[in-house]
Amino acid sequence: MGTKLHRGLARLRYHQVLFGYRGTRRTPFMDKVEHLRAKFAARFGAGPAAVYRAPGRVNLIGEHTDYTGGFVLPVAIDLSCWVGIASRDDSNLVIYSENIGDSVEANFGPRSVRRSGNWSDYPLGVAWAAEKAGIRLRGANVYIQSEVPIGAGLSSSAALEVAVGYAYLDQAGLAIERSKLALLCQRAENEFVGARCGIMDQFAACYGRAGHALLLDCRSLEHRLVPLPADVQLVICDTIVKHELGASEYNVRRAECEEGTRRLAEALPGVRTLRDVTPAQLEKHRDLLGNTIYKRCRHVLTENDRVQKAAAAFESGRLGDLGQLMADSHRSLRDDFEVSCKELDVMVELASGQPGVLGSRMTGGGFGGCTINLVNAANSAEFQHSIAERYSAAMGLRPNIYVCEAAEGVERVANARSEEP
Ligand code: GLA
Repeated sequence: MGTKLHRGLARLRYHQVLFGYRGTRRTPFMDKVEHLRAKFAARFGAGPAAVYRAPGRVNLIGEHTDYTGGFVLPVAIDLSCWVGIASRDDSNLVIYSENIGDSVEANFGPRSVRRSGNWSDYPLGVAWAAEKAGIRLRGANVYIQSEVPIGAGLSSSAALEVAVGYAYLDQAGLAIERSKLALLCQRAENEFVGARCGIMDQFAACYGRAGHALLLDCRSLEHRLVPLPADVQLVICDTIVKHELGASEYNVRRAECEEGTRRLAEALPGVRTLRDVTPAQLEKHRDLLGNTIYKRCRHVLTENDRVQKAAAAFESGRLGDLGQLMADSHRSLRDDFEVSCKELDVMVELASGQPGVLGSRMTGGGFGGCTINLVNAANSAEFQHSIAERYSAAMGLRPNIYVCEAAEGVERVANARSEEP
C-alpha cells in the first residue's frame, strides 16, 4: 500500500502558518470576516453582500454507519469554510478558491455546469443539485477561504458544500431548511463529485451547536444535541498521511454493506437496513454472507450499539465508559471493517494510557487522516507535546495537532458593510 500526501496539503499548511489556524491559536472571528471582505473586494472590485461560514466536523464515534442508516455522534468544530458572495447581473457563477489559488466560471443552466475532477466540482455540484431540485439560483461572485485541513478527514468538502449552498440560497432570497440543504449537498457529492458519502458530514455542518455533539439517526434524520463536558478537550491528531486507496475502498465498503443487507433481507423479511438485524440473527445467518461481508456487517452492528452507549455516557456523566467504547470502535474499524492503517494505529496506541486521556480512536473515513482524543483540559498541553514527540519518533513524521471546540453550524456572519448599523 503506497502512501502519498494529499495534493493540497503543502499549500494548506503554508496557509495555516500564515493565518495562525494551527493548534489553539485562532484568528479572531471578526478578523476573518474582514480578511474575506478585503480579499473579495480586491478580486471582484466591490465588497461582498454577505459573508457565511460552515464548520468542519470531527466524529466522536459511529464510523461507516451513516450510509447504512445507522447512528453517528459527530461534533461541528471551530475550523470553518468562509464564503463571501455578491449577486451578478448575469446568470453566471464566478467562484474563486483562495486555498487553491484558482477560479472557475459557469452558467447556471443544467447542461452548462460540468464536472472537471477538481476542487470546483464541490461548489458547482451544489449549484447543479439545486437546479436539479428545481431551485432557481442567481448569478453570483463567490470567494472561498477554508481553514478546514484538506484531506485530513475533517470534512473540508462538506464544509465547503454547505457554506456555498447556504450562501446561494440566502442570496436568492430562498428559505433555508437545514435538513434539505444537507441532503442537497450530499446529492452534489454523490452524483456530481462521484463520492458515495453518507449524510453525517453535511448534517453536522448544518446542525452543529457550540458545546455539543450531535446524535443523529441517519435513517430518520432525527437528532438530538448531546452536551460535552466543559473540562474535556477535543484533541485531533493528524497523522498527515492519506493513503490513496481511501476513496475507492470507501465505495467498496459501502457496496459490501449493501450486499450484506440484501442477503440478510432475503432471509429476514422486514430488514431494510443493517440496524434492523440483531447480533443473534447476524450469527445465525453468517454462512449467507461469507467472512468479509460478515465482518463488515458485524462492525456496523456493534458500532451502532457503541454510539448509543457513548451518547448515554456523555448524558449521564459516566465519562469513564468512553475509553472502552472508543478503543472497541477503533479495533472494529481496524480488524472487521479494515479501514485503519499503521499510522492511525500507532497514533491511537501512543495516546492510550497517557495521563488524562479519556478515549482515542481514528475518526472519519480512514486510510490516514486524524485520530480524535478526548483529553482532560488539565492534561491537554502535556498530552499534545508528548504525542507529537512520540509519533515523530515512531513514524518520522511531525503530526499536526488541532485543539477544537464544538461550534455552531452554518450561518451568515455578516452583511454588506453599508447595511450594518
Ligand atoms: C466520510 C463520509 C461520511 C462517513 C465517514 C465514515 O467522512 O463522508 O459520510 O461515511 O466517512 O464514517
